This record gives sequence, C-alpha cells and structure tokens, in this order.
Amino acid sequence: MKFEAFGAALLGALAAGGLASAFADTIEEKAAVCMACHGEQGVPVDTKIPVLFGQNEGYIYLELKDMKKGARANEVMTPIVQDMSREDMLAYAAYFSAKPWTNLLQTRATAADSRKFDAINASAGCTGCHQGSYLGAGTQPHLAGQSYDYLVKTMRDFRSGARANNAWMKDLLNTYNDDDIQLMARVLAGK
Ligand code: HEC
Ligand code: HEC
Repeated sequence: MKFEAFGAALLGALAAGGLASAFADTIEEKAAVCMACHGEQGVPVDTKIPVLFGQNEGYIYLELKDMKKGARANEVMTPIVQDMSREDMLAYAAYFSAKPWTNLLQTRATAADSRKFDAINASAGCTGCHQGSYLGAGTQPHLAGQSYDYLVKTMRDFRSGARANNAWMKDLLNTYNDDDIQLMARVLAGK
C-alpha cells in the first residue's frame, strides 16, 4: 500500500466529515486509514488482507493488543498498532464489529471437501469454539466467508509460529498437513 493512498483516503474522510458527532468524526477519520486496505465497503483491497467489517468485537480488540505486544507478528500491521492506545483499539473494535459482515462471494466447497472438513471437525472440535456456523462470538473469530488466501496464510503462520498468540491453534494445526490447511480454508471461505 502506497503512502499516497493513505493520504487520499484520509483527505476523503476529512472532506466527508460534516455534522456527525465529535466522537464519530474522530473514529471515522481514523478508520478511513484502515479501510484503505480493509476496504471502504468492507471488501479488502488484497486477498491476503482479512475482512474486518462485522468481525467480532472482542476478537478485533484482542488481535490489535496482541499485535502491539508482538505476540502476532506482521510486517504491515505491526507498525500500524505501534502507538495505538487501548481506547483507540476499543473504538476500532466497536466501529468495525458494528458493520455488516462482507460477503466476498467465494466459491462454495464441493460436497467431497465439505465431508472431509466435517470429519476433521468431528475430531478437532472447531465448532466447539468457532460456533456451529463458524460465526464465532466474543474473542472467537468469525471464520465463515473469510478470504481464502488470508485463511491459508494465517493458518500457516500459526504453524510456523509467526502468529504465536494462541498456543492451542498452533498445536492443533500442527497435527494437519498443508493439504488439510488448504481444504479447511476452501470450506470456510465458501461458507
Ligand atoms: C496497509 C494495509 C493495512 C492497513 C492500513 C490496515 N491493515 Fe489491518 N491488516 C492488514 C493485513 C495485511 C492483515 C493480515 C495480517 C496477517 O496476515 O497476520 C491485517 C489484519 C488485521 C486484523 C486481524 C484480523 C483477523 O481476522 O485476525 C485486524 C483486527 C486489523 N488488521 C485491524 C486494522 C485496523 C483497526 C486498522 C486501522 C487502524 C488497520 N487494520 C489498517 C493490512 C492493513
Ligand atoms: C479451543 C477452541 C478452538 C478450537 C477447537 C479451534 N479454534 Fe480456531 N481459534 C480459536 C481462537 C480463540 C482463535 C483466535 C486466536 C487469537 O488470535 O487469539 C482462533 C483462530 C482461528 C483462525 C484465525 C482466524 C482469523 O481471522 O485470523 C482460524 C482460521 C481458525 N481458528 C480455524 C480453526 C479450525 C479450522 C479449527 C478446527 C480444525 C479450529 N480453529 C479449532 C479457538 C479455537
């Protein structure tokens, strides 16, 4: 993402400011920077960037906190959260979770893939935490319809330890191979 794009997004947000309340102005201006990547209508500008609109509030806050602590490393997000206050993290979490989840219209998985995934779930218990329809809740992330490329990347990051903020997910995903990871991502993305 180029600096100019940030500038343009920020100026656009300032111009659109208007009569909204002082608080809304503040968070909307700030959130415009996020939307330069996570999408103005909620469709991320790159498939390796996750959907943020409609993600669960507790989870958004937790990720920002973990990224700032360095427990979840990412060359793009790490500098963005560096000086972020707790108040701002809570405000972003409230702002983005209140938006409707964005449907990326990704291809539904085949019946054969879905059956394999159900078998994985039967032993791994994904739905025990991520809920029956993979919508998550609180600090459990919404997975259904998340971007395929992002899901593959972040599951590989759990396995490699680049994303070290949840030991459970790391250990669990290390019992699967990369074909399984891609299968899981296909099924989740297509939900
Ligand atoms: C330059 C592009 C860019 C900008 C600007 C940006 N993000 Fe991100 N964001 C990313 C990428 C890429 C990832 C995926 C990181 C990874 O792979 O671990 C991400 C991940 C996240 C996640 C984790 C989501 C999940 O499902 O785990 C949150 C939360 C987040 N960003 C919030 C924000 C907020 C809030 C802002 C504005 C303050 C913001 N981002 C600005 C690119 C960006
Ligand atoms: C014991 C509860 C638990 C189980 C079981 C579980 N997860 Fe998770 N999962 C979590 C939590 C909590 C997170 C968020 C971790 C964090 O970043 O703090 C997570 C994160 C994820 C993410 C990252 C989402 C994002 O937006 O970055 C994916 C993908 C995922 N889980 C897939 C799965 C799959 C597939 C299974 C089954 C094979 C599974 N999980 C089983 C609790 C669980």
